[in-house]
Amino acid sequence: KLQAVLFDLDGVITDTAEYHYLAWKQMAENIGIGIDREFNEALKGISRMESLERILIHGNRAQDFTPNQRTVLAQEKNEHYISLLTQLLPEHTYPGIGELLEQLKQEKVPAVLASASKNAPRILTSLGLEEMFQYMVSPDGIPGKPAPDIFLNGAEAVGADPRYCIGIEDAQAGIEAIKAAGMYAVGIGEERVLRIAGANIVYESTAELNLSSLLKAASME
Ligand code: G6P
Ligand code: MG
Repeated sequence: KLQAVLFDLDGVITDTAEYHYLAWKQMAENIGIGIDREFNEALKGISRMESLERILIHGNRAQDFTPNQRTVLAQEKNEHYISLLTQLLPEHTYPGIGELLEQLKQEKVPAVLASASKNAPRILTSLGLEEMFQYMVSPDGIPGKPAPDIFLNGAEAVGADPRYCIGIEDAQAGIEAIKAAGMYAVGIGEERVLRIAGANIVYESTAELNLSSLLKAASME
């Protein structure tokens, strides 16, 4: 019955959520704003410009920057982020992800990448995983998470009915997006945080993911 599995990227397939955090923290510090990991939870899954906006509001500086200055700040953050990405190697794929992708391939269930990141293609290439995905959603011009559109777009592209799709996310906004799309939501991370967002099941680590237990949990055997 399962028709597709849709994967978030940053914080689900590899540790790039941490790189995003480090790059935002540095950019924020440069303009005198402090951010911590708790605040960062609300940035996960959120597009680049929207993340910047939230940081400026958090620091009470939203009125201090013109649109052009905002573009420059976002560029600076992205350049720093990309410099961190140069370290990324196939062995940095989170545990269990490669195995799950293999299982899906064997069962001919499409794997879809449903990330808000414009850097997603280069990350998949660094990890050597592009061949494992049937479709990669390109987030340009699509409403961001927590809106369901990124997930709906991915399901549609592979001809899957959202009711028979599983979405995997580490972000609150991402879990909300999966639920709004009418899919089964698997959270990776903190049970307390992701259950509130609506996750159907939460695993502490991707190492716990495997196709047969997912199918059982989602009643899609
Ligand atoms: C994902 C990440 C966010 C990031 C967004 C845009 O949703 O979880 O932290 O801000 O992608 O990423 P980009 O690489 O386009 O700046
Ligand atoms: Mg994520």
